[in-house]
Amino acid sequence: MDIPYEEIERHLNRPVFKLVSQAADEINMECYVIGGYVRDIFLHRPSKDIDFVAVGNGIALAKAVAKKMGRQSKVNIYRNFGTAQVKYKGYDLEFVGARKESYNHDSRKPIVEDGTLEDDLKRRDFTINALALCLNSNRYGELVDYFDGLQDLENGIIRSPLDPNITFSDDPLRMMRAIRFASQLGFDIYPETFDAITANKERITIVSAERITDELNKILLSPKPSVGFVLQEKTGLLDLIFPELAALKGVENRDGIQHKDNFYHTLAVLDNIARKSDNLWLRWAALLHDIGKPATKRWDYHVGWTFHNHNHVGGKMVPKIFRRMRLPLNEKMKYVQKMVILHMRPMQLVDDQVTDSALRRLLFDAGDDIDDLMMLCEADVTTKNPEKARLYLRNFAMVRNKLKEIEEKDRIRNFQPPVNGNEIMETFGLSPGKEVGILKSAIKEAILDGKIPNEHDAAYRFMLEKAKEMGLKPRQ
Ligand code: CTP
Repeated sequence: MDIPYEEIERHLNRPVFKLVSQAADEINMECYVIGGYVRDIFLHRPSKDIDFVAVGNGIALAKAVAKKMGRQSKVNIYRNFGTAQVKYKGYDLEFVGARKESYNHDSRKPIVEDGTLEDDLKRRDFTINALALCLNSNRYGELVDYFDGLQDLENGIIRSPLDPNITFSDDPLRMMRAIRFASQLGFDIYPETFDAITANKERITIVSAERITDELNKILLSPKPSVGFVLQEKTGLLDLIFPELAALKGVENRDGIQHKDNFYHTLAVLDNIARKSDNLWLRWAALLHDIGKPATKRWDYHVGWTFHNHNHVGGKMVPKIFRRMRLPLNEKMKYVQKMVILHMRPMQLVDDQVTDSALRRLLFDAGDDIDDLMMLCEADVTTKNPEKARLYLRNFAMVRNKLKEIEEKDRIRNFQPPVNGNEIMETFGLSPGKEVGILKSAIKEAILDGKIPNEHDAAYRFMLEKAKEMGLKPRQ
């Protein structure tokens, strides 16, 4: 690839680089922009995180830079790691001295041995991340590319600068990073680098769940996430980090009847969702929607393969997976769980004879997430038969319409009981307890069943009747 000088110049004309350049010159230190920022210049991906390498003391350079930047900047020093961070006008600048050993953000062991720029670059993960731009005024904008990173960027190749066995043993998380970059950028992993992942896969078990999950999230957010999951499967990493997903693999055949491969089906659903939405949690829901299938798979002589209740079994697995992967156990998890549990429901409403009550119940259960749920169901249509696909999608469009009509009429989506607990307690002189709960739920059920409209007066009258049956009398 020809060096895109104009592109480089456009970036390096920014004041932030001029300031670092002046500071480095003033203290007579060689200094480079390096890593992801340089890679992303060539990929036209704007970034606010900039890594700098000083051939010398990185902390001293950071201090000189901060002084130049004046009051707009603040230095955080991590002496153990020999790094320093400066915040400047929305940029996150990180400074480090060139080192002989592997550069590793998260390693707990302090790394101190000074090295040359080449020492530093060759211990980085991939050639595309081992590009450096000099900032000293006499060489301003000069590209250092010892390992043909620019060529690999052009060819779309993920390749380690050194023997990949060394690169991966320096930090086994890099095996996941290789796959993540392949998925994010649509690149191929170089055969030797790929083989080394397969050979070193067991080492992934020493990496913390948080770091692996960070990569999984980035894979999920990539344009075609299946790329990253297929690579995890092919290298054998999937079995180690995500056994529940690996268990979806494979087909079984009995009496000539075969079920689909639920791993590849899941990935097709995930890619479908990725085309429609950037919501990470909806993508997690797509990944996990059939996670209960292996545990519920049965062979039935009359109907063939069945996966009864797999949505509920899957729903129960969600918190366990989230806990192990250090994903949040808050409303995001609840949302994913709800999607997994409900993902079969719209299909059951396709029938012409479907009652309003069934539609209201789905609106009640899905609440504000009903549109996401419908999107998931449509993404779940992965049949290769175009006629069938058209039919299913048309059916879902009909369900969407019916839901819309019911919602306009009954406003169930954000259900607030028209008679609330306080009013019930006041009417009958009750304190909080079982009876209040019974009455509240009777009102809700009557509305969902369509026995009464979702309105205060009707609900109040219904409550009086129901209370009478229970032997309760209104206060005088
Ligand atoms: N690096 C590495 N090995 C790692 C992590 C990082 O060699 N396990 C090096 C790479 O040179 C990388 C740089 O450190 O480019 C910065 O790392 P980081 O900010 O984590 O990633 P980026 O490459 O910037 O990519 P992204 O921002 O997409 O995570």
